[in-house]
Amino acid sequence: MSKQRTTRLALAMAITLSSGATLATSPATSHTPEEYESRIQKAMIDSKTLAASAHAGKRAAFLCLYCHGEDGSSVQENIPNLAGQNPVYLLTQIEKFGDGRRSNEFMSGLIKSLKVEDRVSIAVYYSTMRPNTPAATDANLIEHGKKRYQATCIGCHGPKANGTKAIARLAGQRVSYLTEALANYRASKSPRTDPVMTTVARNLAPEDIPAIAAYLSTLK
Ligand code: HEC
Ligand code: HEC
Repeated sequence: MSKQRTTRLALAMAITLSSGATLATSPATSHTPEEYESRIQKAMIDSKTLAASAHAGKRAAFLCLYCHGEDGSSVQENIPNLAGQNPVYLLTQIEKFGDGRRSNEFMSGLIKSLKVEDRVSIAVYYSTMRPNTPAATDANLIEHGKKRYQATCIGCHGPKANGTKAIARLAGQRVSYLTEALANYRASKSPRTDPVMTTVARNLAPEDIPAIAAYLSTLK
């Protein structure tokens, strides 16, 4: 991000934070994957509870919309869409930013300030949205990406790239974010590392990465 951009962000966040955010007094404690899942299940147990969770999540997500967009479709390159993402995956990533397993200079502090119930309702809210960012249009690139995706990624991320509760949905994700995430796994750059994804990314030819990202951006 450019210096100017950074200053604008810091400013926007200071304004946001001073305009009445309910901040937690102490950071939430970490939980196990089973706990993340059961929290999400409880928050989505029936349609009424789901609607209430999503409503609460939309309110709590006002700290996030400057970057992730009003409805979870990112407004900038390199920032992921959260719309349509699997709720357990989302909550897991939020917790990772909260406890330092993942970090981002602009976001980690914001996430640390969220109460447990807000983390859960935000994850539910975004999972009910649909991503809506520009898709790639180069037909040859998309075709190559489709072949490579189907040969290498389908077993975990699924035939339609919908992922699972533990594995990210990739369908409709921003090209720049996918490209950067794959490059980071390939380089095994701390603080986000994953042994499985590092092996997968290292086995790709360099030209596969933009192609797969282009293909994934076209899936809805
Ligand atoms: C200043 C911009 C900014 C703000 C504000 C922001 N984020 Fe982010 N977010 C990012 C960036 C950049 C990434 C990618 C970071 C990375 O992968 O290292 C990201 C990644 C994420 C991810 C991981 C998505 C994935 O596919 O793995 C989640 C979840 C997330 N943000 C949630 C939130 C929530 C919840 C809020 C509000 C409390 C928020 N973010 C506010 C910039 C922001
Ligand atoms: C053996 C299972 C497995 C295979 C095969 C696999 N992935 Fe993954 N992928 C994962 C897991 C697990 C994660 C979450 C890792 C984490 O938390 O950092 C992930 C995360 C990702 C992410 C980050 C998503 C986000 O929202 O931040 C991208 C991008 C990705 N994979 C792309 C791919 C592509 C492209 C392929 C094929 C070339 C592939 N993966 C093959 C298991 C797999």
